[in-house]
Amino acid sequence: MVSDSLDVFSGEAAPIGVVSGSGINLRSLLDEVCGERSFSDAAGISGSGIVGHDGLFIFGRCGGVPVILQAGRIHVYEGHAPAQVASTVDTLYDFGVRKVILTNAVGGLDSSLSPGNLVAASRIETWPYRNHPFPASMEPDLIVPGCDASGTYIWMHGPCYETRAEIHALQKMGGLTVGMSLPLELARCQQRKISAGVVSCVTNDCTRHDEALTHRQVVETATKASRHLSDLLRRYIVGRA
Ligand code: HPA
Repeated sequence: MVSDSLDVFSGEAAPIGVVSGSGINLRSLLDEVCGERSFSDAAGISGSGIVGHDGLFIFGRCGGVPVILQAGRIHVYEGHAPAQVASTVDTLYDFGVRKVILTNAVGGLDSSLSPGNLVAASRIETWPYRNHPFPASMEPDLIVPGCDASGTYIWMHGPCYETRAEIHALQKMGGLTVGMSLPLELARCQQRKISAGVVSCVTNDCTRHDEALTHRQVVETATKASRHLSDLLRRYIVGRA
């Protein structure tokens, strides 16, 4: 179904996959764009209905290195089946990707973190829901150097942001950041032997309880931090990190 897309990079090194989360715009990573495919066309899934998620696979090069940018993702909180959420990883695999950097927007659980900070996840934990279809704890295969911090990321189902009690519990679990994406994609990467790293963009400070958080604020902050994230990923991709 997708093999024709491999023609774009035929004879070149395997493309690196980069997945962008809520509001994160990483198009500046690509010095040249060779083509794009929608989620529905390439993966047979309806795109994300969430603001800040484009639902596109964009083929291009970063400093000469083939890159496939997955702009946007789908989530279980939108009602997508877990297998469908993980299926974008299968599409990247079919496109030839064997190394991927997953990015997302997160809340910071430690007051040392500020909006705009970039955090490498060294461990992924999941809030213990019933029947969740992935391991409770996973480790990414690689750490992208140059982030402001690294630590444990904890997945919550969403779509509501956490209550104060949940934030307290997440801190007790040792979490540095919290968000609503990743474990299904990471678990599928591990199954498919795709080497994966996680870089999260902190969009809000969960330790501040003085104002309500909205998805719009998350998207705005993530968009503002996108250039910083793109520059960090560029250094990694072209081998200067
Ligand atoms: N909680 C969960 N997901 C998020 C947050 C948060 O505070 N910020 C951005 N995504």
